[in-house]
Amino acid sequence: MLKGKKILLGISGSIAAYKSPLIVRLLVKAGASVKVVMTPASASFVSPLTLATLSKNPVLQNLFDESTWANHVELGRWADLMLIAPLSCNTLAKMAGGHCDNLLLATYLSAICPVMVAPAMDEDMWLHASTRTNIETLRKRGCTVLDVGHGELASGLIGEGRMAEPEQLIAAIEGFFAASGQLNGKKALVTAGPTYEAIDPVRFIGNHSTGKMGYAIAEELAARGAAVTLVSGPTNIIVKSKEIRLLKVTSAEEMYEACMGAADYDIAVMAAAVADYTPEVVAERKIKKSEGGLLLNLEKTRDILASLGRKKTAGQVLIGFALETDNEEKHARKKLEEKNADLIVLNSLNDQGAGFGHDTNQVTLFYRSGEQRKIELKSKPALAKDIADAITEIVK
Ligand code: CTP
Repeated sequence: MLKGKKILLGISGSIAAYKSPLIVRLLVKAGASVKVVMTPASASFVSPLTLATLSKNPVLQNLFDESTWANHVELGRWADLMLIAPLSCNTLAKMAGGHCDNLLLATYLSAICPVMVAPAMDEDMWLHASTRTNIETLRKRGCTVLDVGHGELASGLIGEGRMAEPEQLIAAIEGFFAASGQLNGKKALVTAGPTYEAIDPVRFIGNHSTGKMGYAIAEELAARGAAVTLVSGPTNIIVKSKEIRLLKVTSAEEMYEACMGAADYDIAVMAAAVADYTPEVVAERKIKKSEGGLLLNLEKTRDILASLGRKKTAGQVLIGFALETDNEEKHARKKLEEKNADLIVLNSLNDQGAGFGHDTNQVTLFYRSGEQRKIELKSKPALAKDIADAITEIVK
């Protein structure tokens, strides 16, 4: 199941590190190549020699010693997946803070592969507000955080905080790679962010969209193997996946043209907050203020989602977004029909933590079959996985 996969196992200082040799053993048995990188503290819990023997690779512990320097960049580029198990409270905090005082942290910071973590700590530490914030920080950055178990802890207390069992870790990794090939060979078109409609050379009409949701969806589709074209309005977000072709645009018209140029998609997700209206005329020079008010004549922009809906061919899957403040369900269903979409993702501004600018979102999915599915409030990357799951089901 993991044949040919390259797994970099990071081990930090927690008593659960005694299970690391079994993790290595199971990975190797499943066909993976394994390299191990350890924090200095973890070597008190498990022997590097055992791990080197089982992984058949030298175990890396130091950023540098007297004569050599460990190339953490190369390690992060070698791996298909970095699994940090166990993830101690201390290493978690350092990862969230961007610290770089050991080889594991340096490798994490330079890794371009997906990162999965299996936390392990006592319940009080696990529930501490700072740990909650640090876990959320990693999730927002796209790290997969595996659930902790409930049971006997190192302190002797019973509670939450046990590392997931090695067999569960292997199942999670296998699930990850199974999902990652789901959209192999598919072309995806994603729009994200706001559009800016120029009034004159210095002013524009825009909106509060940050693009986080659309970028998270683009990354998730790319992680599942799709060749993604991301047409983005102005945002500050940096694309992580090498599989994403980024087309930067400013106005609704530019976004329309870019999308029409990529209309041979298999999957299109229109997550951008496209301006519905644009100034009829863009002043060539800066408009000077005068005594009276200012009237701007606006004309309708071209609706990209509706245009793609009209051209849609059998086999193409089209997803739209709706942001509503009232009569949400009625409006979402109307959009589904009128724009010939296969799925509408509804954001309601009435939900706390949902919509523009937030790191979290809460949506309801409306399907053509009449089915609807509410997804609870979660981080945008986590929600992107749910939306990608829904898309993958429709594609099948
Ligand atoms: N959309 C688009 N091109 C436009 C306008 C919107 O592709 N010119 C897409 C958005 O990306 C989103 C969906 O259409 O997927 C939103 O539908 P829309 O009817 O624009 O919603 P609202 O802007 O909320 O419109 P209304 O005010 O009618 O509710």
